Amino acid sequence: MTSSIRFLMCAPDHYDVDYVINPWMEGNIHKSSRERAVEQWQQLFHLLKDHAIVDLVQPEKGVPDMVFTANAGLVQGKTAVLSRFFHKERQGEEPFFKAWLEEHGFTVHELPKDLPFEGAGDALFDREGRWLWAGYGFRSELDSHPYLARWLDIEVLSLRLMDERFYHLDTCFCPLADGYLLYYPPAFDAYSNRLIEMRVPEAKRIAIAEEDAVTFACNAVNIDRTIVLNKASDKLKQRLAEVGFRVLETPLTEFLKAGGAAKCLTLRVTEPVQANVHASATVESRVVRMDGHLLDAGLINQALDLIVDGGGSFQVLNFSLGEQRQSTSSAEVKVTAPSHEVMESLMSQLIDLGALPPPEDVCDSILETVTQAGVSPDDFYVTTIYPTQVRVQCEWVKVRGQRMDAAIVVRETPHGLDAYCSLLRDLQVGDRVVVGVEGIRTIRKTESREQRNTQEFSFMGAGVSSERRVELVVEQIAWELRQIRDQGGKVVVSAGPVVIHTGGGEHLAHLVREGYVQALLGGNAIAVHDIEQSMMGTSLGVDMKRGVSVRGGHRHHLKVINTIRRYGSIAKAVEQGVVTSGILYECVKHNIPFSLAGSIRDDGPLPDTQMDLIKAQTDYARLIEGADLILMLSSMLHSIGVGNMTPAGVKMVCVDINPAVVTKLSDRGSVESVGVVTDVGLFLSLLVQQLNKLTSPYRVA
Ligand code: ARG
Repeated sequence: MTSSIRFLMCAPDHYDVDYVINPWMEGNIHKSSRERAVEQWQQLFHLLKDHAIVDLVQPEKGVPDMVFTANAGLVQGKTAVLSRFFHKERQGEEPFFKAWLEEHGFTVHELPKDLPFEGAGDALFDREGRWLWAGYGFRSELDSHPYLARWLDIEVLSLRLMDERFYHLDTCFCPLADGYLLYYPPAFDAYSNRLIEMRVPEAKRIAIAEEDAVTFACNAVNIDRTIVLNKASDKLKQRLAEVGFRVLETPLTEFLKAGGAAKCLTLRVTEPVQANVHASATVESRVVRMDGHLLDAGLINQALDLIVDGGGSFQVLNFSLGEQRQSTSSAEVKVTAPSHEVMESLMSQLIDLGALPPPEDVCDSILETVTQAGVSPDDFYVTTIYPTQVRVQCEWVKVRGQRMDAAIVVRETPHGLDAYCSLLRDLQVGDRVVVGVEGIRTIRKTESREQRNTQEFSFMGAGVSSERRVELVVEQIAWELRQIRDQGGKVVVSAGPVVIHTGGGEHLAHLVREGYVQALLGGNAIAVHDIEQSMMGTSLGVDMKRGVSVRGGHRHHLKVINTIRRYGSIAKAVEQGVVTSGILYECVKHNIPFSLAGSIRDDGPLPDTQMDLIKAQTDYARLIEGADLILMLSSMLHSIGVGNMTPAGVKMVCVDINPAVVTKLSDRGSVESVGVVTDVGLFLSLLVQQLNKLTSPYRVA
């Protein structure tokens, strides 16, 4: 017997499965045998007494899980951190454990109210005492980790649990003597696995299979070279024997019904303090502010969800709820992340939602210099569609050329500071690029509630309308198009060949002719099919009037390409009177610029199709500039391309028969985009009808 090691246990006098707070307990209410539980517990107790001293805490009625003393708290030297149970079912145990710890001379620290931490179930010392592994995700909050670091003066390594069957760290993770580690890697997220691999050399990591994980092989009590556990496969026992560990199995099936086994039933109360080890918190915290219609617009939920989903935790420090319908709310949220890396990723997502760092915080965002043309320094801030500002010399500077997926370049010019979005490929050696997340903010317009309601009616938020509502949306869009035309605004249309196949060609041609379109974006195909229809009356060989295939018609489109190639360009073919109608014809006739971006599947291509995609992108971007509305007609490829180049504030209408495309494009998190799931030919015909109604004199039928 090693008298220097002590464990705390609690006899199962009142043990039972009374409620369900983990997946193991499901279906097991009152299904465990008290008698067998007592017998199994006794066996474990005697086994441990061969190796250590076992102290007992008095079992109490009404708290059946008190047998799991691992959850009493976390103990090191004479310091204890009392558990704060996540579930109210177990909170009744707290005073009993507190009393025991105090009676036995421990200084007991208590976490702030509502900050859960479940003791040694979620916090395991490296057996050499070099650091503390702490779990979070189900029972313990990440925010409790800095307290552990401070009170125990030890480095805390936070591990995020992902599988609810392994809801406590000690169900899937067991540090062993001499730096070995027994664990079940799939129970952790990728970041935690990387952390484990960085700290524990490969030769010392014993990763177990699911088969062993579900018999709680990791829920083991390790004393020197002995491991006491419920059950392990032969393979695992052999693996452990190879590295010098002896496994003692002792059945604990009755306790498995409550989701616990050997380790859960014990608390090691002799954990030595290492003199040379000190706190260093990898856990980072930051405070951000959010303003706006936080509840109405769902912003606060989005923010808090993204923090938790991203592996962090939060504390809402202040929330002031706007009292009137029009008033905005504001919140201050403390964000905690297990590492700097995770913090940066959380912060950049929060910035995209409009969260602000506290005002006085930073005077300059961090800039790094480009050393290779077309390549940014790592860690550059990736832009969104929202208006963005960066902090330079204690001033907020507005970023020019806002678009998605760019880097921000900052420079000093004779006229002052300049910040602009630059694609990676356009970066020049010497450019100064914003990196990290310091001193960046995005501006989300806070529409008042009234405004949003009416806009939602007209533009249906970011929603996707059903067939029944198509006509309604068309009315609104027609109105919008007329307004823009009358005010000399700019409408850009991006369109795919489906427009022609569904009979929408003549309607789109009408829109161009009547001055509703100021630029056309597409690919090779829409132009080919448009001209095919104009010259031969077919679209991909199908007669557009009768809807049947024309003999030999499948070659029509190639003949068309050939003809246009002969004339050198679409415009020239129009001038020569070869093309006499259609969308492209109208564009040429009315001087409406168009850009056709090539792709791998293009036939021909037409001389007008830009096969250099970088040039095509630049061309698209140029034509989009200053647009008031973009009408995206059935081309996922071109529409998504356009979406990426377009800043927030430009209205977008996306029409496609495929709801997935519409959802993708209308999900710009704002009221400015509307999706219409319908046949594009039908949509265009309704639109033209509606525009005619709006413009022709009112007549009684
Ligand atoms: N029924 C208990 C609970 O869900 C089991 C606790 C197991 N303890 C442990 N350290 N894993 O809380």
